[in-house]
Amino acid sequence: MGDIKKEEIALERVTEESFEGDIQHVNNPVLDLPEIEKKYLRSVTGYVKDGNNFVFTDGKAQVEVKVVTDDVIRVRLAPQGAFLDDFSYAVIEQEKHTHSYDIREDDKNFHVKTNNVICTIAKKDFLVSFSDINGKTLNADHAPMHWEENPDFGGYYVYCTKKAYEDEVFFGGGDKASNLNLRGRRIKNWNSDTYSFAFNQDPLYKTIPFYIGVTQGDAYGIFFDNTFKTFFDFAAEHQDQTSFWSEGGELQYYYIHGPQIMDVVQRYHALTGTHFLPPMWAIGYHQCRWSYYPEKMVRDVASEFRKREIPCDAIYLDIDYMEGYRCFTWNKQYFPDPRKMISDLSANGFKTVVMIDPGIKVDENYWVFKEGHDNKYFCRRGDDYFMEGFVWPGRCQFPDYTNPDVRTWWGTLYKGLVDDGVAGFWNDMNEPAVFGRGTFPDDVRHNYDGYRGSHRKAHNIYGMQMVRATYEGLLKLYKNKRPFTITRAAYSGTQRYSSVWTGDNIATWEHLRIGVLQLQRLSVSGLSFCGTDIGGFTGNPDGELYTRWMQFGVFSPFMRVHSAGDTRDREPWSFGPEWEAICKKFIELRYRLLPYIYSIFWQQHKYGLPILRPVALLEQHVYKNLLREEEFAFGDKILVSPVLNPGQMSKVVYLPKGEWFYYFTNEVFKGEEEVSIPTPLDQMPMFIKGGTILPEYPVMQYVGEKKIEALKLNVYYSEGEHHSYGYTDHGDTFAFEQNVYLEKHFIFTAEGNKAKILQQRDGLFTERYDDYNIYLIGFPFEVNQVIADGIVVPVLSKENGEKYVVVDNDFKKITIE
Ligand code: GLC
Repeated sequence: MGDIKKEEIALERVTEESFEGDIQHVNNPVLDLPEIEKKYLRSVTGYVKDGNNFVFTDGKAQVEVKVVTDDVIRVRLAPQGAFLDDFSYAVIEQEKHTHSYDIREDDKNFHVKTNNVICTIAKKDFLVSFSDINGKTLNADHAPMHWEENPDFGGYYVYCTKKAYEDEVFFGGGDKASNLNLRGRRIKNWNSDTYSFAFNQDPLYKTIPFYIGVTQGDAYGIFFDNTFKTFFDFAAEHQDQTSFWSEGGELQYYYIHGPQIMDVVQRYHALTGTHFLPPMWAIGYHQCRWSYYPEKMVRDVASEFRKREIPCDAIYLDIDYMEGYRCFTWNKQYFPDPRKMISDLSANGFKTVVMIDPGIKVDENYWVFKEGHDNKYFCRRGDDYFMEGFVWPGRCQFPDYTNPDVRTWWGTLYKGLVDDGVAGFWNDMNEPAVFGRGTFPDDVRHNYDGYRGSHRKAHNIYGMQMVRATYEGLLKLYKNKRPFTITRAAYSGTQRYSSVWTGDNIATWEHLRIGVLQLQRLSVSGLSFCGTDIGGFTGNPDGELYTRWMQFGVFSPFMRVHSAGDTRDREPWSFGPEWEAICKKFIELRYRLLPYIYSIFWQQHKYGLPILRPVALLEQHVYKNLLREEEFAFGDKILVSPVLNPGQMSKVVYLPKGEWFYYFTNEVFKGEEEVSIPTPLDQMPMFIKGGTILPEYPVMQYVGEKKIEALKLNVYYSEGEHHSYGYTDHGDTFAFEQNVYLEKHFIFTAEGNKAKILQQRDGLFTERYDDYNIYLIGFPFEVNQVIADGIVVPVLSKENGEKYVVVDNDFKKITIE
C-alpha cells in the first residue's frame, strides 16, 4: 500500500498552527509595543444614496448598506472612506429582485427598508441592526464596527460585534468538528491539513465564514465574505456578544433574512451558488484506498465486488498511480496499460477516479513543471523567488490558481487522463499543505484575478480555485458529460465546482459522531455534496464500527470508503461474512434509494435545498429541537439517526411532526415525540414520512446496469395532503439545461377510506419505461377499487401480502377506495 507510512506523515504534517505569527513572535520585541488602539465608528454625519446603495459616513469612515434583494442586505466598512475592490470569489452575480426599497429618517435613526427587512442605522453611535417588517429585531450591533491597524502589512484588522441573545443558537460554519450549536465556541478559518484531527480541533480544511442565528424562534444568517484569516466568537468570551473579525481585507458582510432556517440556507445558496448536478454514478457507492496498486490489485478489488454482488460505481486511485507522485503521469510499472485497465473496469460498470495534488515536482524533464515554469504559472515569494515546499513528490512548486490563465492551463492538463478514460478527479492537499511548515508563507504573492494580494488574502481560496480550474477544464474536455470532482479545501461557493469530504478522520466511534455533525453542518453551509471517509481514514475499525459507519454512509450525500495505506483492509468483505452481509444490504439500500437521492440532488442544484437537514431546520420553533444533533432528514422524506455507540441495542429518536414509518417493518409512529427503537446490527433508525411517495430502483451493481422496466413507487399512507417530488433525466449529460428532464410532483390525499394521487409532470425528458408499480403501504382499509384516469386497474398481491397496482407512468389521477 502507500509507500509513506503514517508515523512519517504525522511527523511531517506539522499543522500550520505551529507557524502562526503569534507563536513565532514569542520573544519578539514587537509584542512589547503598546497595544494598538481600536478605532470605532463615530456618529453618523450624513449619507448619500445611489440606487440601492446607501453610503453613510461619520465624517471620515464610510459604511455602505446595499439592498441586494428583499431579504439580503450587504454592509461594508471603509475606515478611511475608500472601499476596496468589489470582487468576490464566493458571490455569484446577483439578480436584483428588489421590488422596492426606501430610506426613512427620524430623530435617532436611518431606516433602509425593503419589502421584508428593515436595516436601522443609529445616528448617535452608528449601530446597525436588522429587523423584520414588524419591527422584531433579530440581529443588532453590540458595538459600532471597528478596526485597528494591522502592523504586519499596513491594512486593518476589522471587527464586528453583535449582540448575542440569551436564547440564541448558532449553526453553520462549514466543517467544524464541534457540536452543531456553536454557542460558546470561538472558531477560526484558515484552511489547514489536519491529519487525524480531534473533536473541537480548529481550524480544519475549509473556510465557510457563514453562520445562522436563531433567536425568538426566527432565523437570520451572516455571511462575512472575507478570505483572510477570519474568526468568529459565538458568545464565548462574552455571553451577550457574538463577534467576527479578520486579519485583513474589508469588513463586508451580508445579512440574510429568514425567518425559517431553510429560507436562510436557500438565500445563502442564491448568493454563493448551488452544487452542480452530479452524474448519477457519483451518488452510488465508491471504494477508495491509499492506494490500490498495482493494476492487478485494482482489478481484483473490482472483480471481488462483482463476484460478491456488492454494488459499487467507482474505484479510486490515490497518489501511487503516478510516476514519482508527478501529477498527470502514470507509473507504468504499476499500470502498464491504464487505458485498457480503465476500459475493462468501465465495461464492468466501474468509473475510475484519480487523485491530483497541487504540488508540482521540480524536475526540468517533467512537462507539467516545464510548462508551468516557462509560463511563470507558479507562485512566487515576496522577493520574487518561486515558492517551494515539500509534498509527496519531494521539492515542489505550486500553480497560482488565482490567476485565470493558470486555471485555464491547469484545466487542459487533464486531457491525457480524460482520454485514458478517467471519469472523476480528486483534488487534495489544496489548503495548500506543505510538509514541515504547514502551508505557504504569508509573503507569497497571488494574482487574485487581477486584485493582487499576498497569501494572507489568497490562502483560504487556494483550494477552491484549484478545483474550479479542474472543474472548468473538465467541462471543456468532457463536452456534454457531467464532470465529477471532489476537493478537501474549500471556501464559500466551492459547491459550484465540487463535492467535498471531511479529510483525514480516525476510525473511532467518536469520529463517527463527528462525521454526523460535520455533514449536517456542511449541508446547511452550502456544501451539501459531502461525505466522510467511511470507516475512518487512520486507525483500524472493527467490523461493528465499520458497519455502523456504512449505515451512516447510505445517508451521506457522498458515499465513499477510504483509508490510509497502513491500516487494515477496508473492503465491505474485509471484516468477515456477517459484517459483509449487513454492509451489502445497506449498500443495496443506497441503490434502491437512488431515484430519491437523485431527486434531492436536483432540489439542491435547482432550488438550493440542503440535502441533510438537522431537526433544528425542520422544527426551529421548539427550542429543544435546536439542540438535537443525531437525527436528521435526508431530503424531506427520510429521517435517520445513525447508531453511534458500540453494542448499542436501542436508540431514542425524536420524530418531527407527522407520521413516520419505520422502514424495516413499516410500523407507524406519531411525530413530535421521542421513541425508542431497537437497533439490531442489521437495522438502524430510519423512517419514511407518512404520505410520501418514494420511488425505488431495483438493486443494481452499478448505475445503469439494468433497464428499469417499471418504476416502483411506495405510497406510505397518512391522512391529509402530502406532496412528493421526483426528478429524472439522462443521468450524465447537460441536456437538462435545455429542459430535457422530468420533474414530477405527486399529491397524495387520504381521508378515511379514500385516497387519491395526483401527478403533474414538467419537462421534455421521456422515461424509458411506461409503467409505475405502485405499492400501497399502511393503508388502514381493504383496498377494493383503484381507478387510474377513469379506468379500473386490478389490485395485485405479492406472496408476502404486499398490495400493488400497475399504472401508466404519465397518469394524472388515481383514486383508491
Ligand atoms: C491526504 C488525503 C487522503 C489521501 C492521502 C494520500 O492525507 O486527505 O485522503 O489518501 O493524502 O494522497
